[in-house]
Amino acid sequence: MNALSSMRKSMHSLTRRDEVFEFLKPDVHPAIDTRHNILLYVEGVNKSFDGFKAINDLNLYIKEGELRCIIGPNGAGKTTMMDIITGKTKPDTGEVWLGSNINLLKMNEAEIANAGVGRKFQKPTVIECLSVWQNLELAMSGVRSVWGTFTARMTGEQKDKLLSVLELIHLKDEAQNNAGNLSHGQKQWLEIGMLLMQNPKLLLVDEPVAGMTHQEMDRTSELLNSLAGKHSVVVVEHDMDFVRSIASHVTVLHQGHVLAEGTMDQVQAHPEVKQVYLGE
Ligand SMILES: Nc1ncnc2c1ncn2[C@@H]1O[C@H](COP(=O)(O)OP(=O)(O)O)[C@@H](O)[C@H]1O
Ligand SMILES: [Mg+2]
Repeated sequence: MNALSSMRKSMHSLTRRDEVFEFLKPDVHPAIDTRHNILLYVEGVNKSFDGFKAINDLNLYIKEGELRCIIGPNGAGKTTMMDIITGKTKPDTGEVWLGSNINLLKMNEAEIANAGVGRKFQKPTVIECLSVWQNLELAMSGVRSVWGTFTARMTGEQKDKLLSVLELIHLKDEAQNNAGNLSHGQKQWLEIGMLLMQNPKLLLVDEPVAGMTHQEMDRTSELLNSLAGKHSVVVVEHDMDFVRSIASHVTVLHQGHVLAEGTMDQVQAHPEVKQVYLGE
């Protein structure tokens, strides 16, 4: 048995040990038990800041391969929810599991990322002086230094992966262009591509279309839809037209709690949602 597969086998029992993650490639994740078809469990989660309940008995279940939109007014707890899933913030009470076997509350941010949870923040963090290709190459590598990445040779498989991601994010023609020359929308796609290089099981995306043109929004909706199936994708978004264009299952968050869930039409017809969110 080679070192990597034996490491992979022992991952489950070792998820609490930082040192395991030091030399694991980020695209090698521990086995996630999704026999119940649920990838993410958020159960009875509470979080207060100075006595203010930002998250209040939150329950959320994300299926394998599903695309879910989370909407809600400012201060509803959307970002705090993402912070809790990614380990940036620890809840006061409750449970957060990846599959039925990986307890995310026992892991730190790096461990959670390595377990297969990728997060895209609002502001793109691509490296502007590197080409699109190099940004993707860097994202794939488990090696932390730029030098280490570019002196190591990619395997054929890695190259294929990079090419398929380039195609998916519609940046094939820009591969050799510096990331700094891309449009705002293209940078956002590159960053999604960089996350994809690590093969996340769960992708959390915070307000992906803020500042995009209509054309870029359409392309983003297409991109997120094309990711569903292979990945579970949770999108936090304010733009109602965009959420409608994604046409996915929608969860409305209000005061840290799930107010309604369903199709966009269903939640928009929900009287309480109309009241608190749509201002009717
Ligand atoms: N680190 C923090 N310290 C104090 N209050 C916070 C902190 N993070 C979030 N909050 C509060 O929690 C509530 C939910 O915030 P947030 O999760 O950012 O909402 P949303 O992303 O839905 O707009 C807000 O009232 C916010 O002020
Ligand atoms: Mg927010």
